[in-house]
Amino acid sequence: MKTSSLGSSSRALSSLPRCRTCRPGFFRPLQRQKRSFQRDSKQAVPDFAFAFDIDGVLVRSAKPIPHASTTLQFLQRNSIPFILLTNGGGKHESERVKDLSEKLSLSLDTSMFVQSHTPFAELVHGEKGLRNKCIMVVGGEGGKCREVAEKYGFTNVVTPGDIYAAHPEISPFSRPFKESYYGTFARPLPKPINASSPEDSLKIDAVFVYNDPRDWGLDLQVIMDVMLSHQGIMGTYSSKNGDPSLPNSGYLQDGQPPLYFSNPDLLWAADYHLSRLGQGGFRAAVEGVWQALTSSKNHPTPELYKEIIGKPYKLTYEFAEKQLLRHRDELFHEKAPPLRKVYMVGDNPESDIRGANSYESPHKVEWVSLLTRTGVYQDRPGQRPNWEPRAIVDDVKAAVQYALKDSNWHESLD
Ligand code: G3P
Ligand code: MG
Repeated sequence: MKTSSLGSSSRALSSLPRCRTCRPGFFRPLQRQKRSFQRDSKQAVPDFAFAFDIDGVLVRSAKPIPHASTTLQFLQRNSIPFILLTNGGGKHESERVKDLSEKLSLSLDTSMFVQSHTPFAELVHGEKGLRNKCIMVVGGEGGKCREVAEKYGFTNVVTPGDIYAAHPEISPFSRPFKESYYGTFARPLPKPINASSPEDSLKIDAVFVYNDPRDWGLDLQVIMDVMLSHQGIMGTYSSKNGDPSLPNSGYLQDGQPPLYFSNPDLLWAADYHLSRLGQGGFRAAVEGVWQALTSSKNHPTPELYKEIIGKPYKLTYEFAEKQLLRHRDELFHEKAPPLRKVYMVGDNPESDIRGANSYESPHKVEWVSLLTRTGVYQDRPGQRPNWEPRAIVDDVKAAVQYALKDSNWHESLD
């Protein structure tokens, strides 16, 4: 499995073998909750809709951003469809939707919601599915991401915390967290690490980074161990590593498992006034340590094969558009004019604006990117965002006002 594609050294999930044999409706929406708002049938039906980023547009960490709640309430009152499209995650969609509904005093459901790892649910199914394979899920709070993976249908999930609890020697500097943190959620391993008898040792069949790791040291170490192992067998070190006669200097030539990242964001808008490192920062650390461990004077840059999904990648926008079309059909009981335009409202040029600008809709829908000043992007004299939006606006309310005017909608948002 190689990395390639989309202007970066990685490939979106859609290139995975599993995805090549996908059923037409590649992504099925997660279990639908009951529709919680009804529409007045006399209202005009808009031929436009919205996709809202969450962090830096609707909330900053736990706090709603001014006008976010009233703006989305206006859209719901006017039956103007929208979805929430985030590179965030770490909780099951149903839990995140409940949180946001309360925070924003809105009636949301999972049919309006796409988060970073949602597409991983599809890798459970099919002849190459990972349902009962041993997968390692990295990141998130405690065992939360394991719970998400199990709700998706994975049945054999280990975390780096489980490995550490069973073999604390694997990460000498994680000791301070052993009881207070790992002791609260770690589970026994399906098999121990048994370096002296690999056939009896824990074997990892896929590595997923679901959310931002809380202990970069342990998670990075364990990912390296798996990527340098013989066939994903913990405690082994592939004899092919560093062999110049082999492709990629022998690295990742020995049946090592695939490595998936769910969110490319190097930075994101949290509570602090300056943007914070996101999962893209962790991936940069993984790539840097990989480089340090594997480079040699004959082969300075052996590749770390990986798959990355999330905004700005096509697969995520494809999935989001399908989700929005389904949601819109439900809202208007399939009696709506074709969807003509989606306004993507985001705070991060690298994910929200780049993704919307690059996406070519198979349904001939025009995606219009609107960049807010409430998150990662901040005006700097003489500088423009790396990815040029249709417009730069102060906040989500101004974005919706722009869109309503652009689409000649009869109601204004004051
Ligand atoms: O981890 C969340 C961060 O990457 C940004 O999420 O909602 O701005 O796409 P969002
Ligand atoms: Mg954002």
